[in-house]
Amino acid sequence: MSVFTVNGRRVEAGEGVLLDFLRDELKITSAKRGCGEGACGTCMVLVDGRAMRACVVSLDGLAGKAVLTVEGLSEREKAVYAWAFGRTGAVQCGFCTPGMVISAKALLDRRPDPTRPEVKEALKGNICRCTGYVKIEEAVLFAARAFREGLVPDEASRAWKIGEPMPRVDAAPKVLGAARFADDFSLPSMLHGAVLRSPVPRALIRSIDVSAARALPGVVAVLTWKDVPGRRHLGHLVQDWPVLVAEGEESHYVGDALALVAAETAPAARQALEAVRLDYEVLEPLLSPEEALAPGAPQIHPGGNLVDVQTRVVRGDVEKALAEAAHVVTRTYRTQRVEHAFLEPESALAEPVEGGLTVITGGQGVYDDRRGIAAMLGLAPERVRIVTALVGGGFGGKEDLSVQHHAALMAWITGRPVKLTLSRDESLRVHPKRHPMTMEYTTGCDGEGHITAQKIRITSDTGAYASLGGPVLQRACTHATGPYRTANVDIEGRGVYTNNVPCGAFRGFGVTQSAFALESQLNLLAEALGISYWEIRRRNVVVAGDVLGNGQIAGPDTMMLETLLAAKEAYKSSPYAGIACGMKNSGLGVGVPDVSRVRLEVRGGQVTVYTSAACMGQGIATMTSQIVSHVTGLSLSKIVHSGADTALTPDAGTSTASRQTVFTGEATRRCAEELRSDLASAGDLEALEGRTYYREFSFESDPMGSDKAHPVSHIAYAFATQVFILDESGKVCRVVACHDSGRPINPLSVEGQIEGGVVMGLGYALTETFPMEGGLPRARYGTLGLWRATEIPPIEVILVEPESEGDVVFGAKGVGEIALVPPAPAIALAYRRFDGKERTELPLKETPYSRKI
Ligand code: FES
Repeated sequence: MSVFTVNGRRVEAGEGVLLDFLRDELKITSAKRGCGEGACGTCMVLVDGRAMRACVVSLDGLAGKAVLTVEGLSEREKAVYAWAFGRTGAVQCGFCTPGMVISAKALLDRRPDPTRPEVKEALKGNICRCTGYVKIEEAVLFAARAFREGLVPDEASRAWKIGEPMPRVDAAPKVLGAARFADDFSLPSMLHGAVLRSPVPRALIRSIDVSAARALPGVVAVLTWKDVPGRRHLGHLVQDWPVLVAEGEESHYVGDALALVAAETAPAARQALEAVRLDYEVLEPLLSPEEALAPGAPQIHPGGNLVDVQTRVVRGDVEKALAEAAHVVTRTYRTQRVEHAFLEPESALAEPVEGGLTVITGGQGVYDDRRGIAAMLGLAPERVRIVTALVGGGFGGKEDLSVQHHAALMAWITGRPVKLTLSRDESLRVHPKRHPMTMEYTTGCDGEGHITAQKIRITSDTGAYASLGGPVLQRACTHATGPYRTANVDIEGRGVYTNNVPCGAFRGFGVTQSAFALESQLNLLAEALGISYWEIRRRNVVVAGDVLGNGQIAGPDTMMLETLLAAKEAYKSSPYAGIACGMKNSGLGVGVPDVSRVRLEVRGGQVTVYTSAACMGQGIATMTSQIVSHVTGLSLSKIVHSGADTALTPDAGTSTASRQTVFTGEATRRCAEELRSDLASAGDLEALEGRTYYREFSFESDPMGSDKAHPVSHIAYAFATQVFILDESGKVCRVVACHDSGRPINPLSVEGQIEGGVVMGLGYALTETFPMEGGLPRARYGTLGLWRATEIPPIEVILVEPESEGDVVFGAKGVGEIALVPPAPAIALAYRRFDGKERTELPLKETPYSRKI
């Protein structure tokens, strides 16, 4: 038994690790379970003033020591850190934030006036997947100044205009650890869930005997496929993913669920998994598209091994254009499987309630979760309520059900609340990744360097289940010719089922892959022509009125050329500068119904914004609050944002496809304009007590295969040009990111998305992989190749803004994904200029970063 203090309180603890004691015994929520292996820093605490990761601190070494968490900061410190992190836009999902604050305090306690390199060094034990660290470093410097100068201004008592750097409205609770993620919730008489998964990637499951597991003390229920009362196969578009694999069926990957245990304690649930007796026959897994498409290959799904949404984009006559081209280049490019690496592992707490079930969880669309769970339970959707907790990062990886349905099933059957939280290893094993793709490109241009033809074949490995593999492949294909005029295109994409971990939505949504191939082709053409890599782009980029590769006419808000011009100085500044352009759609598009809904309510002298738009860190509450403040002139302190909740908030659709600023932002604007009008006649908010305002915003796009000459595939596109510069040692020493995401609602948020995307792009290009061997993941969180603060080069963001205000949400466009499109090809070009080697695979080999792979 060790006796020590936590936040000044004397405690006694037995065996185990400090993090479990803090969370499970003391109910301290600021220290988060991120990786469980001492890699991520979300559980950072001070032990006798030294920053340490609580998940690897043994309790028996703490006797006589003082442990401090964010909850134990002085009131002054809390005020300063909350202000500094909010003011600088340093908080996105917030899961890393309390740990960052602890590392900052450890630094500022000994160095009250630190330099930026010292700040980076202090933060190197903390991973942030959202922000790119830039604004966190600024927050620490702001906090240092605030401590020295005594400044903490009140910024909520004024109105804010769009375009102003309004502080994040959700910063304080995230900074102080009071904001609750799903695993921070618990209920009386709550059970703990655990999942037995397929031991091998492909097996015939002959029988599942749970009798011994059911008999263990503390075990309340062990469930199998027979216990699913409704639909047993779920999925966004294709219902091919079993809630639980049945006896007599094959498992398709190592994340497949075979049995669920609900027990009084988490250890009892985990132990019971070992008592489930499985009889299975190991089958040879299909581990690549080539194996899956080989003649005679076993069929993973009844329809075969091809995902049923294949993509074809054809315009003009490619063969003729290639035959007539002055230069033709052909290459095959390959990209790797990548993990989202959001800091918060998946978690859900399901509770039976009168007439149905409530599930607290953190996903990317509460109505999507509700549809799946209701179908599984055979209930009307209205009987299932999904309440969002905060979401500790998603990046597309929390669009599919992962824990929600299993927690719901256990709660439904046992009649008790059940929490299911994945360990990091389980999270890595279960949720969909970024698709590996093989892309064959043949590109032709005329003697002046104008692209005339693109013949493209893309094959993606979507793993065991479709997830969003069809739409990802579509976007890879429809964006495969990028922001360049191309009269003749012939693009074909095929998605292939294998027994690998599924692949699905991931920031960039297929465009990250095809952009790597496309931009590399442009570089080869530039070399063939003897013109610069910048010039080949200038001769081809679309301007308003040009036709995009998918046939859509570029809208009047197209500022692609302006981003290229903005990047010129950076490109010319170094012989080792790599440049690439990119475009990314906003909104689902291609004929898929796309609508957001918002309701404003006036109560108690405040306006509450109700919308189900999920915030995974991108700043939904800040965006809607700033729009309401801008339109109505109300001070920020009078505007509240409700979290997503199917019982309270109207359906805003999924947070995906960089769509929420456009769709939910516009619906918010329309509500706010009506409120403004009422305010003008009523005089003040109090006179409007009880008034509600409801608006929808939708956009009708043309479907794939439309016979229109110029189909409108998407409501808008963001454009960008980025430059990555290497120093003499081959390290990236400067990044310049020039972006057209329309008119920024909040420049801090837009910059934060770009900086975070650039850093994710550095990882994608240079270090990140998700290795698998024989269908089994071989990565741990600490070996994914994620970048730390000390490794990040200076990132300059240049926002190119349109001169006039657009019709929709003031001319703002999505920014969540575009920043991740240009980095990989730009970095590949920088290395080509550095050492002359052509690189056609990601992550790039033979760079100073290759040791991290
Ligand atoms: Fe750092 Fe999300 S804000 S991980």
